[in-house]
Amino acid sequence: MKVDLAETKKIIERYRSEKGALIPLLQDIQAVYGYVPAESIELISKELSIYPVKIYGILTFYTQFYLAPRGKHTIKACQGTACHVMGGKAILDHLSDKLGIDVDGITPDNMFSLERVACLGCCGMAPVIVIDGDFHGRCTIQKIDELLDNYRSGKAK
Ligand code: FES
Repeated sequence: MKVDLAETKKIIERYRSEKGALIPLLQDIQAVYGYVPAESIELISKELSIYPVKIYGILTFYTQFYLAPRGKHTIKACQGTACHVMGGKAILDHLSDKLGIDVDGITPDNMFSLERVACLGCCGMAPVIVIDGDFHGRCTIQKIDELLDNYRSGKAK
């Protein structure tokens, strides 16, 4: 799908005179598109005379950035040691089965993306998943099913 670069142009103008503002600029781009499109990177590079390799360097260094489209809701399943011991792999496999996608995939209705992450820093709640920044601890298969149903039915947004 072709990316409409009108918003990218506006954001570039907003930051044009600010030196060293590449990270907030990229954050704003991601806030608009849900990820940082290659077309936007190309335009930023051209307009602000920044080598694409520098932009990609930042995008791949910071885990907050995405280079590909994501679903409306991003599910991160922790696979750190504590979560693994408490069944995190089974939770991830169940999510993958239930959503019908692999890790880093997007459901065909664009509703969910699934990611595998390392320790989220709340091992006492293992196994943990995060949906759009909301932490869900002591996950069970049943709890996962309820959560997905809530998102699908619009009860959770
Ligand atoms: S290992 Fe999952 S939160 Fe620490």
